[in-house]
Amino acid sequence: MKYADRMKNMEDKALLALMELAEAKDVISFSGGFPSPETYPLEDIRESFYHVLEHEAKEALSYSSTRGFARLRELIAERMEQQFRVPCEADEIVITSGSQQALDMSGLLFIDKGDIVLFETPSYLGALNALKAYEAELVEVETDDDGIGIDALKQALDTYGERVKLVYVIPDFQNPTSRCWSQDRRIAFMDLMAQYDIPVLEDAAYSELTFKEEKETPLLGYDRKGQVIYCGTFSKNFCPGLRIAWIAARKDIIEQYLVLKSFVDLSSTAITQRQMAYYLDHYDLDAHVSKIITLYKERRDLMLQVVAREFPKEVKYNKPMGGLFLWMTLPEGKDTKELLLRALAEGVAFVPGGSFYPGAAKNNEMRINFSNMTEAEIVEGMTRLGRITRDYLLE
Ligand SMILES: Cc1ncc(COP(=O)(O)O)c(C=O)c1O
Repeated sequence: MKYADRMKNMEDKALLALMELAEAKDVISFSGGFPSPETYPLEDIRESFYHVLEHEAKEALSYSSTRGFARLRELIAERMEQQFRVPCEADEIVITSGSQQALDMSGLLFIDKGDIVLFETPSYLGALNALKAYEAELVEVETDDDGIGIDALKQALDTYGERVKLVYVIPDFQNPTSRCWSQDRRIAFMDLMAQYDIPVLEDAAYSELTFKEEKETPLLGYDRKGQVIYCGTFSKNFCPGLRIAWIAARKDIIEQYLVLKSFVDLSSTAITQRQMAYYLDHYDLDAHVSKIITLYKERRDLMLQVVAREFPKEVKYNKPMGGLFLWMTLPEGKDTKELLLRALAEGVAFVPGGSFYPGAAKNNEMRINFSNMTEAEIVEGMTRLGRITRDYLLE
């Protein structure tokens, strides 16, 4: 079959094959990037669906409006204000089918062939691939523990000038490192961006999963010009299978997304939007989130204990203050794809760090999920992985 040229560098097939092995039944898998399914509030979700089918069946089984179910948009606007102190109106929101669709539509909206997207590094390859599909050139900007480097960003903005069409960032507990930008960095970033007419795509997938006392203000909260396009989702704090997410942005930008949304899929699924609205109206999402945060924090702590005990000292790692991932770095020259092959042979999986660099990958890092495995699996899996890593480093 003759596929479009853009397909040639869209995916790493070798890695996909490895990741399929990771899904095998008897593997202790630290590779997932989603909440723990045992935490889904099944009874409440069942009742919400039941109510929707009992009382709103015709609407729920029809097309939704392109913009999305009005009550759900109102509830999301209220939640943005309540959770993050960001004033937001229902008209500034469009519902999307997962935030992945928001990222994809952002490529469609802003990118012509050869345009440049600047992004913090490493980053979520699902977003970068979505933008690359529109033949964007991806340019990484040096990033430290506090967030994207301001000097490096300024230099990139000035070097590439009008070719830069988008800056893509994940300020809260990003995928893959769980890094959370400091407040100062957020302010400095928005001060710099305000000097340019370039949209900022803020991916907030993990923002509610914080172990800190206070939630950081999103970039949207520091946005004086209306240049931030905020992508929120219920995938990480609730259930990814519902595919409910949203874009919050200036009204005129939302109007552009609406044009695209009507081309891409007409509307998001009505029944899940109504179910989500019913759930938000009648149950307590905050209580659910605080329950899963407590569980993930315990699992993070347990994982850090096992790592401190079982891994060689040359392996460096962070202490995630939220999100779902531990990011580990082996000494230079070591390759975590090779380590994954050995780990899979002993029934343990993780994601090699190279998957989070679209260009020249660093190969000595790895992403370990701590939300998805039980306590016993964490102890067993990380003990095994520690031993396999020790043996690998000795060679
Ligand atoms: C940073 C980031 N953004 C977006 C997504 C996609 O989320 P959704 O399920 O809302 O499409 C993911 C999923 O892993 C992610 O890690």
